[in-house]
Amino acid sequence: MRVLIFDDYEQMSRWAAHYVAWKIRQLATPQRPFVLGLPTGSTPVGTYRHLVELYRQGKVSFRHVITFNMDEYVGLGPDHPQSYAYFMHQHLWDHVDLPPQQAHIPNGLAEDLEQECQRYEQAIAQAGGIDLFLGGLGHDGHIAFNEPGSSLRSRTRVVHLSEDTIRANARFFQGNLSQVPRKALTVGVGTILDAREVMLLVSGQSKAWALHQIVEQGVNHMWTGSALQLHPQAWILCDEPATEELKVKTVRYFRQAGQSWMQLPPLD
Ligand code: GLP
Repeated sequence: MRVLIFDDYEQMSRWAAHYVAWKIRQLATPQRPFVLGLPTGSTPVGTYRHLVELYRQGKVSFRHVITFNMDEYVGLGPDHPQSYAYFMHQHLWDHVDLPPQQAHIPNGLAEDLEQECQRYEQAIAQAGGIDLFLGGLGHDGHIAFNEPGSSLRSRTRVVHLSEDTIRANARFFQGNLSQVPRKALTVGVGTILDAREVMLLVSGQSKAWALHQIVEQGVNHMWTGSALQLHPQAWILCDEPATEELKVKTVRYFRQAGQSWMQLPPLD
């Protein structure tokens, strides 16, 4: 696991966007598009802003990219402003040259939700698997909507959201708890671990305890982000405030090692 510690959110977001753009430029071809897994939430907003900027500067194109989002609320369609599909249009899809038919997200309005989950897993497999899965981290250490207690081998499925998550996400529903859907469709921890590379973005002091759990404690289904410890190509990008609960020794090690891990070729 590589933990990259940035001074602030802006630096972290810029580096993440640069890395994604660099991978796309390296690997995406018409014959073998680059397959990118995408998160929602407030944390990736900066990364999407920088990716759009890089696209506008002509430094990256999404023509040969296929995307798969991590999750979606059950009962919300793409026209609902709090749906994750709406979020993706707003922050990325509508601003880059990603062909609409290459952007995938679970359908929260599907009549048969179980079937929708199977279809989603098959679509990922048909695309050749995910090259790079970006993710965020919940306050309780969850990745995608894999709440505490999720199997570390779980696949795409319907889940019940925990009280913590409902409360945390109420801020997007004018603070109204009753408006937050109780269920979601989410890729599983196993689906995420199948990606060739996984990169979590973690920002702010409010995530510090979760970061400590997934970096310094053992693999544990109560902190599903800890499953990244099992992945051979896992990155955790965080800002300084998120490191508050890490040991000084841990921070020192990753700060030092990060100096070489952070080197990226320019995108000219
Ligand atoms: C939701 C999403 C996660 C996201 C998490 C944290 O639960 N399903 O994918 O990582 O929120 O969101 P934020 O970045 O807003 O803290």
